[in-house]
Amino acid sequence: DPPLRDLADAKGKVIGTAVTGSKLTGTYGRIAGAEFNSLTPGNAMKWGSVEPTRGNFNWTEADQIVDFAEASGQQVRGHTLVWHSQNPSWLTNGTWTPTQLSQLLNDHIATEVGRYKGRLAAWDVVNEPFNEDGTYRQTLWYNGLGADYIAQALTAARAADPSAKLYINDYNVEGVNAKSTGLYNLVKSLKERGVPIDGVGLQAHLILGQVPSTLQQNIQRFADLGVDVAITELDIRMQLPATEAKLAQQGTEYEAVVKACVAVSRCTGVTVWGFTDSDSWIPDTFPGEGAATPYDENYAPKPAYSGIVTAL
Ligand code: XIL
Repeated sequence: DPPLRDLADAKGKVIGTAVTGSKLTGTYGRIAGAEFNSLTPGNAMKWGSVEPTRGNFNWTEADQIVDFAEASGQQVRGHTLVWHSQNPSWLTNGTWTPTQLSQLLNDHIATEVGRYKGRLAAWDVVNEPFNEDGTYRQTLWYNGLGADYIAQALTAARAADPSAKLYINDYNVEGVNAKSTGLYNLVKSLKERGVPIDGVGLQAHLILGQVPSTLQQNIQRFADLGVDVAITELDIRMQLPATEAKLAQQGTEYEAVVKACVAVSRCTGVTVWGFTDSDSWIPDTFPGEGAATPYDENYAPKPAYSGIVTAL
């Protein structure tokens, strides 16, 4: 088979993976470079990674990934600028006035987006802003600035890099439900107000047997608002141990997810959240679950890999 990226290129789609910079050598580096046309830093661009103490920046891993991607002819998806998680403690433990918070947000975005200006295809500007019922999540940002923090962040990102596509990214928004409808209403309102928004990211941290039946319909309703849609963090986890039957079902489900994106022209593509089970966040976060990615721990392609091939 040709590599996934050749199949995706032929369809004008992204097939991406999240990566860890320190692992980009050997077999891991070879597969990351050969099979994917887009990379997302799994952690390297998060605020806590890039500015662990105030004013002291560490761009080493982020730079390494961007350099690797450019050398491999790959896009980069920046992840992520404004989130409630993985922030530096100086930021979360501080007490800030709304004016100070706004300044911090704007400076962070100007610095980070500015550093990679012209080199990144897209940014996940705001990550996980919603609760499951479609209301706004109470975060440092929301509590200080109200929902306007989202417009402020998007506006700052556009100013810092006019060529990057700007996204809002969330999980459990893959099907039509209360949370995705909250996101839909936000995007509609941002568009109406002229706030820069180019796309929505559907993370797609899915559970075996629970791919939403309304996935394609949901992608289509966002596309009809006039924004792009990207599947940004696909994995499909299962209870361990993995069996042949579960892995076969996972293959069918990977195929269905990628097919739903391929079917909608404004769906730009699919990024998996780690391409190998040896580099997946699932076992650490959901004890007893795993085997969520297209390659096993020894870099052997699984039925999930074949499912992606079939869909592309
Ligand atoms: C995860 C990383 O993969 C882990 O290494 C880290 O410990 C926690 O964060 N949604 C997101 C990603 O937007 O940033 C998260 O990444 C997974 C869930």
